[in-house]
Amino acid sequence: MKITEDIVYIGVNDHEIDLFEGQYEVPNGMAYNSYVIIDEKVAVMDSVGGQFGSEWLGNLAAALDGRAPDYLVVQHVEPDHSANVERFMDSYPEAVIVASAKAFDMLRNLYGTDYAGRNLVVKEGDELSLGRHALKFIAAPMVHWPEVIMTYDALDKVVFTADAFGKFGALDVEEDDWACEARRYYFGIVGKFGKQVTAVLNKVAALEVSAICPLHGPMLTSELDYYLGLYKTWAAYEVESEGVAIAYCSVYGNTKEAALLLAAELEQAGCPKVAVSDLARDDMAEAVEDAFRYGSLVLISTTYNADMFPFMKVFIDHLADHAFQNRRVAFVENGSWAPNAAKVMKAKVETMKNIEIVEPTVTVRGALDDASRAQIKELTAALVG
Ligand code: FEO
Repeated sequence: MKITEDIVYIGVNDHEIDLFEGQYEVPNGMAYNSYVIIDEKVAVMDSVGGQFGSEWLGNLAAALDGRAPDYLVVQHVEPDHSANVERFMDSYPEAVIVASAKAFDMLRNLYGTDYAGRNLVVKEGDELSLGRHALKFIAAPMVHWPEVIMTYDALDKVVFTADAFGKFGALDVEEDDWACEARRYYFGIVGKFGKQVTAVLNKVAALEVSAICPLHGPMLTSELDYYLGLYKTWAAYEVESEGVAIAYCSVYGNTKEAALLLAAELEQAGCPKVAVSDLARDDMAEAVEDAFRYGSLVLISTTYNADMFPFMKVFIDHLADHAFQNRRVAFVENGSWAPNAAKVMKAKVETMKNIEIVEPTVTVRGALDDASRAQIKELTAALVG
């Protein structure tokens, strides 16, 4: 697949993976993107994950039609992109790796070699001429590892963005909505590093760009303002959509009933969107994504061992780990004899940045009754008000 006259896609689709990065469900598989820029010199942009080396090298050979690559640009050393570097270097003994100094340290740590004598260390602003094309390197630390560089080809106005602008899903599965799986990917994988993402977005904003080529997901070749705008919102932890995310844990269904009643009341009160997640059964990464997407979050948990329910602990830890901030948060607890979940949830959430607690906190004593139903109505009014 040609991206431009001189840039060819040589990546692979993975439908065998069960959990991406050991934790993310990927029902539509995953793509490991790689590209080759064919000029007087030939540069390959990144390798691919694990067992796809033969397919990738086959794609490369088909694109090159007998030529040998001069450079392998390693933008990111995480093994979903670097696992076949060694095979590439064995196949093309004249080739040189182009990467940041940190990337070579990481290659040595992971694979036992830093390819001394076959390495070209680059940093922010360095250029590599391929002939007509000149590659300019952009440091992108923590997007999503510290060694990451992005690469700009000014001739074709293409920016290679490493993990940024990536998404879950193989490229041979059609999906209408890029944002859904790109958002889940962003907040799960890159979300903690909003400050660093903003810094690199500012550098990209200064470039003339007609295509974004990430390491996962489709190449973005039109409506770039839409994608850049979403990334700007996400990186700044701003509210993307008006609405309320509800995350609940329920043991016998009474707490679930409270969650569903609140959702129904919110919808009836005109809330534009209510996204409900059962933390024990639904995809946790989807619940995290919804928490970051909407302006308000309601945490609903049964009391368990004088604490919150275990899945809620995991969820709140995910939020804290990903720098959750700038949101309104409300609490609903259940407890048959000593309700305490709201107190412990609140104590954790209050440590996060710029959180507005929305009152009242709702207490259910075993099952919904007139008093707790009335509190849910009051909370609904506070959330939509
Ligand atoms: Fe796609 Fe951070 O690796």
